[in-house]
Amino acid sequence: MILQALLNLVPFFLICGSLAGLPETSAQGTAASPILDAQTDAFINKILADWKSPGGVGVALVKKNDQGQWVNIETKGYGRATASGKAVTENTTFNIGSNSKLFTVAATSLLINNQTLSPRLNWDSKISSVISNFNVTDPVTLKEATLLDLMTHRTGYPRHEFSYRYSDDVPAVINKMHSWRQSYEFRDVWQYNNNMYTLLSYLPPTLLSGKPFARYVKENIFDPLNMTATTYSYQLANSNGQRADGMARKGIDYYKDPFAGTPAAAKYWSSQTGGEDGSVLSGAGGVISSAVDMAKWLQTLLLDGVHPTTNQTVIPPGALQKAASALSIETTQPNFPEESLIAYGAAQVQITYRGHLIIEHPGFVRGFNTQVSRLPNDGLGVAVLTNDNEHGKSTSQIIKYYLMDRALGLEPIDWSGRLMAQKSVPPTRATPRPANATLPSANFTSLAGVYNNAGYGQFELCLISPPNPSASTPCQAMASNISSILPNAIRPGIPTLVGAIDSPWLSHFRIEHFNQDLFNVSLLISTAQNDTTEPYWTYNDRSQSDNGAIAELDAQGSQIGLGMAGIWYGLWEPNVPPATPKPKGNTVRERAEVYWDKIN
Ligand SMILES: *[C@@H]1O[C@H](CO)[C@@H](O)[C@H](O)[C@H]1NC(C)=O
Ligand SMILES: *[C@@H]1O[C@H](CO)[C@@H](O)[C@H](O)[C@H]1NC(C)=O
Ligand SMILES: *[C@@H]1O[C@H](CO)[C@@H](O)[C@H](O)[C@H]1NC(C)=O
Ligand SMILES: *[C@@H]1O[C@H](CO)[C@@H](O)[C@H](O)[C@H]1NC(C)=O
Ligand SMILES: *[C@@H]1O[C@H](CO)[C@@H](O)[C@H](O)[C@H]1NC(C)=O
Ligand SMILES: *[C@@H]1O[C@H](CO)[C@@H](O)[C@H](O)[C@H]1NC(C)=O
Ligand SMILES: *[C@@H]1O[C@H](CO)[C@@H](O)[C@H](O)[C@H]1NC(C)=O
Ligand SMILES: *[C@@H]1O[C@H](CO)[C@@H](O)[C@H](O)[C@H]1NC(C)=O
Ligand SMILES: *[C@@H]1O[C@H](CO)[C@@H](O)[C@H](O)[C@H]1NC(C)=O
Ligand SMILES: *[C@@H]1O[C@H](CO)[C@@H](O)[C@H](O)[C@H]1NC(C)=O
Repeated sequence: MILQALLNLVPFFLICGSLAGLPETSAQGTAASPILDAQTDAFINKILADWKSPGGVGVALVKKNDQGQWVNIETKGYGRATASGKAVTENTTFNIGSNSKLFTVAATSLLINNQTLSPRLNWDSKISSVISNFNVTDPVTLKEATLLDLMTHRTGYPRHEFSYRYSDDVPAVINKMHSWRQSYEFRDVWQYNNNMYTLLSYLPPTLLSGKPFARYVKENIFDPLNMTATTYSYQLANSNGQRADGMARKGIDYYKDPFAGTPAAAKYWSSQTGGEDGSVLSGAGGVISSAVDMAKWLQTLLLDGVHPTTNQTVIPPGALQKAASALSIETTQPNFPEESLIAYGAAQVQITYRGHLIIEHPGFVRGFNTQVSRLPNDGLGVAVLTNDNEHGKSTSQIIKYYLMDRALGLEPIDWSGRLMAQKSVPPTRATPRPANATLPSANFTSLAGVYNNAGYGQFELCLISPPNPSASTPCQAMASNISSILPNAIRPGIPTLVGAIDSPWLSHFRIEHFNQDLFNVSLLISTAQNDTTEPYWTYNDRSQSDNGAIAELDAQGSQIGLGMAGIWYGLWEPNVPPATPKPKGNTVRERAEVYWDKIN
């Protein structure tokens, strides 16, 4: 791509999509050719088509020249923003998922920088010395864990992703932490844990007499950076008409075509949460933002926290460098020949790509996959926001590398071909329940009831199939409408229990008998759709494959328990083994990631 060598010489300043809302002074009279040009448009539109994306993509690209002048500030939208067919523009807002975590780190750095706090907060402050209700089962972690340990995912505690509920506030989650099992020793390995960012989001209210975390970020980061479209409030994002739906492939059959499906809006992950004071989801993944605002954020990151036009210091000097500094090893070997290992700092990783240092982070919540990356040595920033649930992780990666290759003047690599080959390998098929399955050691009726785990809360398990004449009133109600609220969720001939739960990740646990005391667990989401003949669809992205989630019945006389394992510690990705193995042991309790006691 010889063209790229001329990049900074082309004598005009481009206004592509928008100027990211910045006053003209930011142009500094400098010239560069656009990167989000017709060639890029064609490329991105082809990626959306090839991957049969149900959604679209918002892109921001910023670039400085050697004199520190901004030569590219470009933002643009492609594809579909909503189920109703609205187009993505540079103002369309996406949930940026875990790219929210850098805002949590930046907020913490503002507290660290706050000289009026007494005692002062440090990156190495012990969390137990700051948050008095912090408690965990492991005494070493309890005593030693610092802010940086939480930020870099090395507390020894695994995900416990389904522990928090929409109805929890942050202190409720901190209380739940007291009861979680640890899976590795303190500082042993990198184990991603969203809950530790939820814990960090409790620092502003703790240190600033109840100041809500999300409002603190708004007042100290979004507002000073003029990130006017950025918010933690689903309601606000919804009311201004710019919100993208988190799009999914309804009815996807990974064995027939791993890319096809009917475009449908998935239930918005943070839809049931509060306004600008935020919620239990804010610290780990609550930010909703647009390409225009991501351009402002990328500029600020490349300027070490300085506002790109006013020169006001918004993030304390050095804080972003601290966040990028390697603490944990995320990968044990490079994924591709052009890439290095991935080193994790604080919501930022370092990776090299074709010899260029990238500081970045991915983001995922249901319906959205994002990448926010900067190349400090090249003065380049790229953000790719997708509303593609199943393949946005791949498409955001492909588009990111395409833009980097172009901006750096490198020969293109066929990332789409590479990743599509990977994603074309079907996941392991589930083994169906054997026709001669042995019944469990307690009858199905006796399994129905309320279960409790102190680290997760309670839920009521209803026996749906075979029908249960002695069902509780809520279970009768569920049995009567389940075919409407969860179409096709109950498979004929398989004894099935269902528990409703207000988790951001599932609305119902489905527990199907497999053999003896072993059950298969699926996470289902009852999702409303604009269709009077079928008002709901069942979101279940592991409909035919073995998702590895099991429940083991533990019947000791009249005492009944369920030991669940497979996805409570780790991630639920097809073809990717959980980062954290299931616990081993001789008893159901020992083998359980989460053990539920039936309490009535
Ligand atoms: C703030 O952002 C908005 C929207 O992007 C833009 O219209 C406005 O000019 C910006 N204001 C300043 C002071 O930069
Ligand atoms: C629902 O569908 C109807 C008929 O197709 C359409 O007129 C309406 O705009 C849709 N509503 C939404 C919120 O998409
Ligand atoms: C995006 O928002 C800006 C500022 O409100 C506006 O000037 C611009 O026209 C919008 N772009 C689109 C495509 O609507
Ligand atoms: C710094 O702390 C003081 C209280 O000691 C508080 O009033 C102020 O809002 C804090 N500022 C920031 C940016 O944290
Ligand atoms: C932490 O929990 C343990 C076990 O429940 C308890 O003994 C201990 O007092 C708790 N510590 C704090 C600081 O709350
Ligand atoms: C911000 O800093 C740049 C580079 O040092 C300078 O050119 C510009 O005039 C400054 N802008 C303001 C508003 O101070
Ligand atoms: C049920 O669990 C078993 C044991 O983990 C597994 O082999 C099987 O594939 C699962 N079946 C379904 C339908 O999920
Ligand atoms: C169930 O059937 C399978 C083959 O279909 C057989 O291998 C197994 O021994 C049978 N199990 C029992 C308990 O009869
Ligand atoms: C199931 O087991 C319970 C407890 O052992 C017993 O009371 C009940 O009668 C059994 N129900 C059926 C339908 O067998
Ligand atoms: C279905 O039943 C549940 C009780 O299990 C109830 O909470 C829910 O509102 C019902 N939904 C509809 C659409 O009838």
